[in-house]
Amino acid sequence: MRIYRFNEIDSTNTFLKGRRDLENYDMAIAEVQTAGRGRRGNEWKSPEGAALFSFALKEEEYLPLEEWRKLPLVVGVSVLRALEGIEAGDYQFKWTNDVYLNEKKVSGILVEKVEGFFIIGIGVNVNNTEFGELERRATSLSRESGRSYEPEEVALKIIEEFKRCYSKFLMGGWSELLYEINSKNYLKNRPVKIDLRNRIEEGVAREVASDGTLVVDVEGERRNYDVGEIHISFE
Ligand code: BTN
Repeated sequence: MRIYRFNEIDSTNTFLKGRRDLENYDMAIAEVQTAGRGRRGNEWKSPEGAALFSFALKEEEYLPLEEWRKLPLVVGVSVLRALEGIEAGDYQFKWTNDVYLNEKKVSGILVEKVEGFFIIGIGVNVNNTEFGELERRATSLSRESGRSYEPEEVALKIIEEFKRCYSKFLMGGWSELLYEINSKNYLKNRPVKIDLRNRIEEGVAREVASDGTLVVDVEGERRNYDVGEIHISFE
């Protein structure tokens, strides 16, 4: 495992994706990203003070696709667990890839695929306190606790926790992780809009099912939505 440190880079995910000599758990971390990326092609803007990092995870040949679909959720539990060690308030997991702190987003996760590896990118608002247009919806560890933290330490804690959660997952411990996701489920009982690209459905989110899909009550019916196919909004 190598650590690549940058004062400034376009995106730590893009950096690792471009390397031809990746090894398991190679990591890139930056103080500033000039072209940070979020899910669905969104830009991820983050002022200085955040932990902006990515690491490579070697693909296990034997795991079927349905299992890999759960990977963002396994990453989510790891972020949740690691951040719970930092006393700043109430943490929740928002399916599929966000962690909330005191009802505001504190971390986002972007999982991408290259030949033989997943690139797992994580942004955590650590010491930053200005959020511009995201003011009402985002927060940082520092803003909630009044303390400051070392971003790289936070990143390393998350990777350490991921190693534990991932080995549990590979050894058949998914139901324990799922239990944790559901007990900290930010979306539970919230009204949600589901953007299926050609139409929008409205419903009330319920639990995360054992296959990693989100159960939503829509027009009196329980429907399951898959990780990749939808965008959820709730405000
Ligand atoms: C999201 O909330 O949509 C996911 C955001 C993921 C941001 C992180 S920051 C480090 C890594 N590099 C990127 O360009 N994106 C991820």
